Amino acid sequence: MAQIAALLPLIFAAVVIADSSTPTKNWNNVTGTSSTTFPTDVGFLGKLMYGQSPFVAQVDKLDTNRPNGKYGIEMRWLPKDGKKDDATPDDIFRNLGQVSPYHIADDLFPETNKYRSVPDNCEIKQVHLLSRHGARYPTGSKEGGQYKFGQKVAKARQSGDFKAEGDLSFLNSWNYSLGSEVLVHTGAQELFDSGVKAYLDYAKLLDGYEHKPVIRTTSQSRMLDSARYWTLGFFGWDAPEKMHLEVLTEDSSQNNTLAPVCNEVYYDDSVNDWIDTYSPPIAKRLNSMLTGFKISDEDIYNVMTLCGYETVSQGYSDFCNIFTKEEWEQHEYTIDLQFQTGSMFLNPIAKAKGVGWVTEFLDRVTNSKFDGPQSLQNSTLDSNPTYFPLKQPLYADFSHDTVISNILTAFNFTQFADDLDFTKINKNRRYRTSRVTPFGALIAFEILECDNDQYLRVKVNEAVVPMNQDQGCEKRDDGLCKLDSFVKHQKEHAFKDSHFETACMGKNGTDYIVTGPVKTGTLSKSQIKAVKSKRSNAIPGLKTMRRGA
Ligand SMILES: *[C@@H]1O[C@H](CO)[C@@H](O)[C@H](O)[C@H]1NC(C)=O
Ligand SMILES: *[C@@H]1O[C@H](CO)[C@@H](O)[C@H](O)[C@H]1NC(C)=O
Ligand SMILES: *[C@@H]1O[C@H](CO)[C@@H](O)[C@H](O)[C@H]1NC(C)=O
Ligand SMILES: *[C@@H]1O[C@H](CO)[C@@H](O)[C@H](O)[C@H]1NC(C)=O
Ligand SMILES: *[C@@H]1O[C@H](CO)[C@@H](O)[C@H](O)[C@H]1NC(C)=O
Ligand SMILES: *[C@@H]1O[C@H](CO)[C@@H](O)[C@H](O)[C@H]1NC(C)=O
Repeated sequence: MAQIAALLPLIFAAVVIADSSTPTKNWNNVTGTSSTTFPTDVGFLGKLMYGQSPFVAQVDKLDTNRPNGKYGIEMRWLPKDGKKDDATPDDIFRNLGQVSPYHIADDLFPETNKYRSVPDNCEIKQVHLLSRHGARYPTGSKEGGQYKFGQKVAKARQSGDFKAEGDLSFLNSWNYSLGSEVLVHTGAQELFDSGVKAYLDYAKLLDGYEHKPVIRTTSQSRMLDSARYWTLGFFGWDAPEKMHLEVLTEDSSQNNTLAPVCNEVYYDDSVNDWIDTYSPPIAKRLNSMLTGFKISDEDIYNVMTLCGYETVSQGYSDFCNIFTKEEWEQHEYTIDLQFQTGSMFLNPIAKAKGVGWVTEFLDRVTNSKFDGPQSLQNSTLDSNPTYFPLKQPLYADFSHDTVISNILTAFNFTQFADDLDFTKINKNRRYRTSRVTPFGALIAFEILECDNDQYLRVKVNEAVVPMNQDQGCEKRDDGLCKLDSFVKHQKEHAFKDSHFETACMGKNGTDYIVTGPVKTGTLSKSQIKAVKSKRSNAIPGLKTMRRGA
């Protein structure tokens, strides 16, 4: 309470200054009580736990010369049955959903691969980068499923009659070694590399730019660290003197387009039906190698994620080698279903969460001062040129996998929407979490000038999105879209289509009713009307309703 009361005069003062258009420097203290204009110590770091020190040189059972030496982590494992569907040695590591180490998405939109170079008559004028943090430990601290599995093994071993054989004999001496939520070294390297690459790709855009670019990230430790390593790669070791790092707090009561929080957490548990179809046979096979310990059907998902988590943080994992190609594909499908139902087209709140960043993007590309529509932008910060500068030739924002997914959905990138069956794998689906939001994922929105016309091109981990009428574009082979058409379409539809007030500020059962799966990332008129017709007048008090924790 005391804290909130202390902040009130500041917020009020800021609002007053906004109206009298006082010069920028008077806004410096908008971020609260910090002694600096761009404080980085704003709290809300996440549930942090540190893991044990890696020892790859000691534990790696494959021969010691790691080919390509990519990040020094062991990615030569093949599935247990040795099968792979392409010639890449890192096959398993492309089936790990959001736990996949960074790789370019060369197979996401193969039809545009040959158009990746900028057309001869075009010049890149501006870029808007949206990046995911790098590799991290599992989330959830001691509540996390992986941690709990580790505890279960430790307890069984203490009891004395634990014995593992065959593929699982490593469990006789395996210990859970992971921390929680912190960026790991592989993640630091991914983001440093990404910063170096962005420098090589776009540094020219900043030539002659007379301000320090503002780079935005959020307060969670892995987010802040990721942005720092990226800027180190881009600007060098003295990065803090060459740019401003704006850290938006992940306090759930604050508006934040890079970590949006809505009233309702919608989760379609049909995903569990799918997990239930393939887990029991796996558990059965593994249990045949165990005495004094039982892996439950529910453990399978967590055990499979350990391959990725141990690899990126400890450099090596014996869990990678115990599942077949088919099992890895089933696991990957689970993660794709989780992302679609949790953050994308099968989720009714997805567009509402992502639309704040979409409107910020529209303001940036059109050099327009903040003027709504208000969703989860912090209007105090977005109205302030210090914290939301326009005409910056290069923007870089850092966020989470789920939020990037919300944003792609809010733009109506239906290129990532598939018909997904909860009883069997859709092998022809386009969307793969491993391709769209692996660790260190990078979405680049490039503004090109071609013969005096402006175009937009969107690259998802290097794959050029073939834009079409769903984003207001005329479909072209090279994926380019007239910027005007794109902007006009998004301005007309994105906010409206998100049903922001109802979807984000409302509650299921009170303000709308969702009974079955949705397909469009938003509420339908009939889902909203279902309630309105029950209660003749409009939703009461919706505007003032606070978001949940
Ligand atoms: C911001 O406000 C705090 C508390 O009022 C003050 O100590 C600090 O010096 C101010 N910082 C700036 C940059 O003006
Ligand atoms: C796991 O922990 C136990 C008990 O501390 C220790 O004896 C064992 O060597 C550890 N195993 C590994 C692989 O580090
Ligand atoms: C907007 O940002 C300012 C500065 O960080 C903060 O003090 C304020 O609480 C934020 N407002 C909301 C509604 O998030
Ligand atoms: C925060 O978001 C809510 C919901 O859209 C809005 O009513 C409020 O004005 C916003 N606050 C700020 C400071 O932007
Ligand atoms: C999004 O794409 C769907 C599918 O084609 C289309 O029906 C819908 O009108 C689009 N929405 C917007 C806002 O463009
Ligand atoms: C939404 O509310 C309806 C009616 O109360 C209920 O049947 C449905 O299960 C709820 N949906 C979710 C996803 O909670």
